[in-house]
Amino acid sequence: MDVVVVTGSAGLVGGEAVRAFASRFDLVVGVDNGMRRDFFGPAGSVADNLAAVERIPNYRHHRVDVRDHGALAAVIGEYGTDVRLVVHTAGQPSDEWATGQPLVDLGVNAVGTMNLLEAVRRHGPEAVVVLTSTTKVYGDAPDALPLVETATRWEIDPAHPYHEHGIDESLRADGGRRTFFGVSKLAADLAAQSYAGLLGLRVGVFRCGSVTGAGHAGVELDGFLSHLVRSAVRGAAFPVIGHGGKQVRDVLDARDLVEMFWHYYLDPRPGEVYLAGGGRERSASILELIARYEYLTGHEVPFEYVPEHRFADVRCWITDTRKFRRDYVDWRPAHDLDDIVRSVHERWVEVERFGLDGFPVNP
Ligand SMILES: NC(=O)c1ccc[n+]([C@@H]2O[C@H](COP(=O)([O-])OP(=O)(O)OC[C@H]3O[C@@H](n4cnc5c(N)ncnc54)[C@H](O)[C@@H]3O)[C@@H](O)[C@H]2O)c1
Repeated sequence: MDVVVVTGSAGLVGGEAVRAFASRFDLVVGVDNGMRRDFFGPAGSVADNLAAVERIPNYRHHRVDVRDHGALAAVIGEYGTDVRLVVHTAGQPSDEWATGQPLVDLGVNAVGTMNLLEAVRRHGPEAVVVLTSTTKVYGDAPDALPLVETATRWEIDPAHPYHEHGIDESLRADGGRRTFFGVSKLAADLAAQSYAGLLGLRVGVFRCGSVTGAGHAGVELDGFLSHLVRSAVRGAAFPVIGHGGKQVRDVLDARDLVEMFWHYYLDPRPGEVYLAGGGRERSASILELIARYEYLTGHEVPFEYVPEHRFADVRCWITDTRKFRRDYVDWRPAHDLDDIVRSVHERWVEVERFGLDGFPVNP
């Protein structure tokens, strides 16, 4: 039997991994304890995502905390050498949340990842493992690049080699300043590389920038595009925080990220680190995104500007994915920025109408 294990299976990336892989494996084993709600309150709940993946016939859920090594090892041990692929997405995803609770963040992101890697080593060492790391491991290094300010965005200076294709894996991950989230994710990222380098585990590290999609429970502290659209659909003010709203991110649809994992699984390169993002053509500043959203949907985005910027909120990040595309020539993102905006919008319109879990908000 071919088994894929997805941690964080009720979350954005995990949920899309379950949906994509249900038809490619005999059994999808999900691990998620719903902790996103503990981090962000009811608005961060992934209960509806969990209900959706639980309707998939070959999906089996384990409500396990990745910090609990024994329980996690028991899950991997139950399926043992049938486990072909492990997609590790369970995690605490917010810089700001980590600042308030660095020990919990470290436990979930770093220790949780070590627990998983150790369980795989002991019970299913032939499995391919993909790890969702983050560009936040680079801390504020992107802000030291030469930047230029235009009317609507911060941009990497056109004379700099990163301008045309974006930032690649050669950016320095040490030095500079980073949040505790960046620390816990870097610890996990390096641990994964060591499990590959020292012990031969077939682990790939994907440093993600801004990944989103219809399954994102966007809140103020995590998932800016989803939160922006959610606010607009509700008519609530969206806080544009710092940098004049000109900070730039490139956005990748979670479904396209999951297809990167699939290509990696078919031809794993142990210990390799890849940046994962939407690239220049899917990049936008907050101001540009608001304008695009209003144009595409006709909905106005009421926003309030907060001058003080967030710590380590870099002014411009655009991902160069050429390393991955050189190694996996068939991968191309299928969803452009407009598709992403539309699918997130449709999801929040549906939630506004029917409520989470399909229950009406105002029956
Ligand atoms: N979405 C992005 O833009 C982005 C960017 C960079 C990195 N990442 C990383 O990718 C991963 C997935 O991101 P996402 O956007 O899907 O996040 P998400 O919050 O939507 O999903 C994570 C899931 O993990 C679960 N979880 C949290 N703590 C847990 C624990 N202790 N035990 C078991 N389950 C737990 C949550 O309940 C949630 O369902 C995260 O590790 C995140 O740091 C995401």
